[in-house]
Amino acid sequence: MSRKPIIAGNWKMNKVPAEAREFISQVELAIPSNNLVDAVIGAPAIFLEGMKKGLSKANSQLQVAAQNCHFEDAGAFTGENSPKTIAALGVEYVIIGHSERRDYFHETDEDINKKAHAIFRNDMTPIICCGESLETYESGQAVDFVGAQVSAALKGLSAEQVASLVIAYEPIWAIGTGKSATKDDAQNMCKAVRDVVARDFGQEVADKVRVQYGGSVNPANIAEYMACPDVDGALVGGASLEPASFLALLEAVK
Ligand code: PGA
Repeated sequence: MSRKPIIAGNWKMNKVPAEAREFISQVELAIPSNNLVDAVIGAPAIFLEGMKKGLSKANSQLQVAAQNCHFEDAGAFTGENSPKTIAALGVEYVIIGHSERRDYFHETDEDINKKAHAIFRNDMTPIICCGESLETYESGQAVDFVGAQVSAALKGLSAEQVASLVIAYEPIWAIGTGKSATKDDAQNMCKAVRDVVARDFGQEVADKVRVQYGGSVNPANIAEYMACPDVDGALVGGASLEPASFLALLEAVK
């Protein structure tokens, strides 16, 4: 089963507008046009409109993701961003369930499931994050813990929707720490994620869903993850901030 790799940068809460514009102009010109990989940047909501407008080619190879959205399309939710609004800007993806949102903003599996439904309702694609803490990893519970997160996030979605979405497995202990997972751990966990999808939605769906590894991925280590049969790409924080580094990640995907 061949799945198109997807490399998604997650800028988190970084950059000022001039830096975002500079990144777009450098990357858009240099991005490989062979269409072998989906290249996505997850930007702060305040940049999304400018990012989409800044991409000059109508069919730009660079796609844009929001880093979060609310699960309602409109209402009295001060400070939140509506999936309907994000979709109207032409944004393709929304990252949901990142461990920073789960930990610092107390997002639950139920919230993440509602957001997944809202993203599809607005014709975008969710990138659903999952991942265990160091304590859970060390106690040997990672497969069960992550499996439960994935199953809860996908509840009530159609087989067709699940086949089209992206799941990012990101062990919390590997995020921003420089302590990346071994390629065997990444492969085993991405396979475990796919097995949960197979159990809940069937093997055909599991063969189509794209599963990324994330956590201290950089241009020097990405190739070893991409060589794993169940790893279809990466969600990358720190190494996505500079154009040269982001482009090097794309180049490493063959
Ligand atoms: P990192 O972040 O690449 O800086 O470890 C990954 C993420 O949080 O998505």
